Amino acid sequence: MDSVVEQLAEKGWCVLPGFLPPDLAQQLAVEAQTLYQSGQLRHAATGQGEKREVRAGLRDDAIAWLDETPSSAAQREYLARMEALRLAANRELQLGLFDLETHFARYPAGARYRKHLDVFRHDSRRTLSVVCYLNENWQESDGGQLRLYLDEADDSPHVDILPQGGTLACFLSARFPHEVLPAGRSRLSLTGWFRRRD
Ligand code: OGA
Ligand code: MN
Repeated sequence: MDSVVEQLAEKGWCVLPGFLPPDLAQQLAVEAQTLYQSGQLRHAATGQGEKREVRAGLRDDAIAWLDETPSSAAQREYLARMEALRLAANRELQLGLFDLETHFARYPAGARYRKHLDVFRHDSRRTLSVVCYLNENWQESDGGQLRLYLDEADDSPHVDILPQGGTLACFLSARFPHEVLPAGRSRLSLTGWFRRRD
């Protein structure tokens, strides 16, 4: 957890391979696949309230929200790790993170999520975006990188993060535009947002 907090303090974003142990990432992947195969993933929308809409081509993943009462030991373990991260970030960085909303996400091969910010126009509670990847043996040639733009300028430099199983990517939600590049295979993650109080 120290490395996550140090990276966040230094640059506002962080990548940590091996944040989830392999057996936990694998178990969560099985649960995501099971949700997919039993038809429990829903095409994701963008926006909030009246602006909420499903727009093909903007984001093509399918999701299932995690309940506050986790439905498996693996989900409980994931939430415990997120709670440790929340407490460390609040202690060291005074981020005032209050709760976590999180969902499984599955991008079919070829799907993408175009460049966006994770905060809504009329709701700025989302503070820290956290993504844990659940894909075994992901190769550079599989694509599907999370492309994080380091500032808001059109010609901003970027970093590309490979969605390798167990890797954590996190960043300040209001500061970093980002996109998901299309992949040659389906791509699984647990994506979440720590929120402040209103
Ligand atoms: C999102 C998102 C990034 C990723 O769901 O808002 O940007 O790498 N996900 O899956
Ligand atoms: Mn996003």
